[in-house]
Amino acid sequence: MRTPESPPAGFSHQVRRCFGRQAAHYDQGALLQAAVAWRLAHLCRNLALPNGPCADLGAGSGLLARAIAQQRPGLELLRLDNCPELLAQGISRAPGPSLQWDLERGLPSQLDQAALLASNFALQWLQQPERELQRWCQQLQPGGWLAVAVPTAGSFAPWRAAASGAGVPFTGLGLPDAASLEAVARQELTLHRCRLLHFSRPSQDGLTFLRQMKAIGAQASRKAPLRPTQLRQLLAHWPTVSRPQPDWQVLLMLGRKR
Ligand SMILES: C[S@@+](CC[C@H](N)C(=O)[O-])C[C@H]1O[C@@H](n2cnc3c(N)ncnc32)[C@H](O)[C@@H]1O
Repeated sequence: MRTPESPPAGFSHQVRRCFGRQAAHYDQGALLQAAVAWRLAHLCRNLALPNGPCADLGAGSGLLARAIAQQRPGLELLRLDNCPELLAQGISRAPGPSLQWDLERGLPSQLDQAALLASNFALQWLQQPERELQRWCQQLQPGGWLAVAVPTAGSFAPWRAAASGAGVPFTGLGLPDAASLEAVARQELTLHRCRLLHFSRPSQDGLTFLRQMKAIGAQASRKAPLRPTQLRQLLAHWPTVSRPQPDWQVLLMLGRKR
């Protein structure tokens, strides 16, 4: 296992750099993330929580931790993220405990026997989302809660359609399969909510979509970027209003550890 001093793994580092550069603009552009965070927080407002640590995993600027604190005053989550710039943004908006931590290392021991682990739009950035989700579930105490929202493989349908129509590679982030994540969660938890949400903006062109991703620092990818000619072909094949397809398919799960 890496020590805190050793350099972060390649992709983690790329993700951290991209989010770090755009940290000052994140809240302004992350409208979908904010809406889903609010919804997740709503589900957490009346949970019977045991005593124990509570955390927002991949908290970024703390949209979820802040939404939970607003809807359930007194409940303060530890905001854990690999990007110090985003954590600092959140603290400047609403002070709270935070920890810079690479989730590829699993969870810190201070979250052993956790009472609530919440996470919004973060799990998909990890190398093995299913394995990490399992570790998160295992670190909960019996009666503890997991509340998670994560974009899944059915997302980016217009982008995929454009790539296939243009004959260029799809260069977006590979996203986890919703059914696999659900199966992992069900091994450890009793699920009280499990829904696939779909979001699309039919009128949006490809360039606007890709620029919005970049504006919040969410453009990191494990694949090589397109050449300018390929990018032009991709944009020319982006589906139009007549063929609306979901930009985002988000799995929302709320479960209690057995
Ligand atoms: C799309 S943002 C979501 C942030 C926040 N949860 C929200 O709802 O706005 C993804 C977050 O995951 C964090 N992240 C990605 N990979 C990570 C890793 N390996 N360890 C810790 N955080 C990570 C990023 O730094 C970023 O803050």
